[in-house]
Amino acid sequence: MKTIANRHVLRAEPYVPGKPIDEVKRELGLKQVIKLASNESPFAPSPKVLKAIAAEAKNLNRYPDGQCFLLRQELAKRLKVAPEQIIFGNGSDEVIVMAIRAFIEPGNEVVIAKPSFLIYEIAAKLAGAKVKAVPLRNAFYDLDSMKRVVTEKTKMIFIGNPDNPAGTYVTQSEILDFLSNLRRDIVIFFDEAYFEYVLDKDYPDTLKLLSDYKNIIVARTFSKLYGLAGLRIGYGIADKEVVEILNRVREPFNVNSLAQAAALACLKDQAYYQRIAKFSLKEKKNIYAALGKMDVLYRESATNFILVEVKKNSSEVAREMLKRGVIVRDMAPWGMRYFIRMTIGTGKENKRFLQVLKEVL
Ligand SMILES: Cc1ncc(COP(=O)(O)O)c(C=O)c1O
Repeated sequence: MKTIANRHVLRAEPYVPGKPIDEVKRELGLKQVIKLASNESPFAPSPKVLKAIAAEAKNLNRYPDGQCFLLRQELAKRLKVAPEQIIFGNGSDEVIVMAIRAFIEPGNEVVIAKPSFLIYEIAAKLAGAKVKAVPLRNAFYDLDSMKRVVTEKTKMIFIGNPDNPAGTYVTQSEILDFLSNLRRDIVIFFDEAYFEYVLDKDYPDTLKLLSDYKNIIVARTFSKLYGLAGLRIGYGIADKEVVEILNRVREPFNVNSLAQAAALACLKDQAYYQRIAKFSLKEKKNIYAALGKMDVLYRESATNFILVEVKKNSSEVAREMLKRGVIVRDMAPWGMRYFIRMTIGTGKENKRFLQVLKEVL
């Protein structure tokens, strides 16, 4: 069948997700397994969110609201944008995919960083684009080099901010520099999946740029700090005209009703989630200190995950940790053969991670 498949589809590598906890338990016969591999929140949604989900479950015989009306109104108010400037997706993954479907034609060029979030490259290749991947410099985006590879065929540039797996971000002034003299008919996609974790003052306010730059799309998600990864809901914010274009490629009922109800309840329960953000930051500092004591190098991260330099074959280290019930991400598929990525878990999970890492190294 490969001879008749879409050739762009054959060119793209399938996305390999982190292993689910139950699969590891089944395969390795383990009772206790912790997953620190997919940058999820280690905490259940807040009681208010769980209550909203239960209430909404009674309406599951109905299709969801294709416009996400209530959530859209609340989010627009909080972000100080017009409701028509928001598009919701089945995870922010879907916002990335919709943007590519809406703007990319075969032969167009898409600029990304290397390594960065794998979906940019996969989705661009599926659409028949040529991907230009510019290496990070010391774990940071090299925006000058990214600008240099732009040609008349360039249609989109992805900036994961902060990016995964590096965990670093580009600052407000770096972005303004980058945007100056860049063609305005190139879509600049800021992927801010980890936005809620970043507390640094020089982290850019991309929403403020939207009135000047009609070519910017900003994507965020409820999968990370808000802990709704299993429900799949994220969103994009852009100029109304861009959102109108994105809506043309959106499936009519792409965001399910439980996700809409849960996301709305998350927005209204900020105190709970702010506590989690603070906790995550405190744990991150503790993990840095513990790794430092073990003489293990790491990259400082603005997110809920850390790249750890294991100085050994990362696939082996990840496999050995898995056998001991700790799922981390092997960075070899990103070309980083001596790194693993760990997501900050609960206090107990982080201690277990450190103990097992010590054993394995
Ligand atoms: C940089 C980045 N963008 C987007 C996503 C996708 O998140 P979701 O589709 O769950 O919103 C992830 C998930 O790991 C990510 O790391």
